[in-house]
Amino acid sequence: MTKESDCISVFAPATVANVACGFDVLGFALEHPGDEITVKKTNTKKIIITKIEGAEDLPLDADKNVVGVAIKALLQELGSDQGLEISIKKGVKPGSGIGSSAASSAGAVVAVNKLLKAGFDNTALVRFAMEGERLASGTAHADNVAPGIFGGFTLVRSYSPLDVVKLNTPKDLYCTVIHPQIEVKTSDARSVLRISLPLKKAVVQWGNVGGLVAGLFLEDYDLIGRSLEDVIVEPIRSVLIPGFDKVKFNSIQAGALGCSISGSGPSIFALSKGKATAEKVKKAMSEVYENFGIEYIVYVSKVNPNGVKEI
Ligand code: HSE
Repeated sequence: MTKESDCISVFAPATVANVACGFDVLGFALEHPGDEITVKKTNTKKIIITKIEGAEDLPLDADKNVVGVAIKALLQELGSDQGLEISIKKGVKPGSGIGSSAASSAGAVVAVNKLLKAGFDNTALVRFAMEGERLASGTAHADNVAPGIFGGFTLVRSYSPLDVVKLNTPKDLYCTVIHPQIEVKTSDARSVLRISLPLKKAVVQWGNVGGLVAGLFLEDYDLIGRSLEDVIVEPIRSVLIPGFDKVKFNSIQAGALGCSISGSGPSIFALSKGKATAEKVKKAMSEVYENFGIEYIVYVSKVNPNGVKEI
């Protein structure tokens, strides 16, 4: 029989990356949805994924699954050949834009760190989980895995060396996320971006990043709203998302502080002060896809100040 200490289960939350102005550097965690990951020690010296519930198309082969790759990065640095068996229950749909691969990678490395008492700090765990992101999208970006592991809002101040800063989460901040049921692959959404940009646009963007970070610390909701503007990525990627302009317009009309693409899309997020406004935004967003006849899932969630947690 498996001893209790030979097994751990965690909940790993969905995350919103970019947060309008902070492409590849800003993100925050949601309360729900999320993945559940169970990791068990074995004597096989192998990493075996036994089952993936809720996304049966994902590969069980540990070298082709973000969970296996992230765990192997951790074990390699630990110098351990510990065998592990992993089962995954996907609550975050792949290709949704709310950090599906990141939830699994972040959950897996936090679970293994705890199970093996490996003692890695959060920044090291982000580094391992980023290997999962590299496999999933071709780029080891950290703006989903960082808030997944640290909780709340995070800023990736630098990638080289990796420097993640946990920001403040204003207590009345709620998020509404709508996921039209189409899939946009992160790798495709990255391939449409331009690699250079005019200095004028960069000036607007870094003003907004600074404004958003200041707004979060000052708990100045108006400043947060004014800063939720993306003049670089959103204009290019929004064409991949049916009804984006209308969803954004309706959200602001309903009282949202701001609205933009969640990660690489197709999900769209809005931030609001208070749950009542976030619920109005949910209705306003939903109406667009009702009218278009496009199926959708919509969530209202408080910004989650905690990251992956043991269950
Ligand atoms: N920053 C990444 C991107 C997030 O926008 O491509 C992907 O979820």
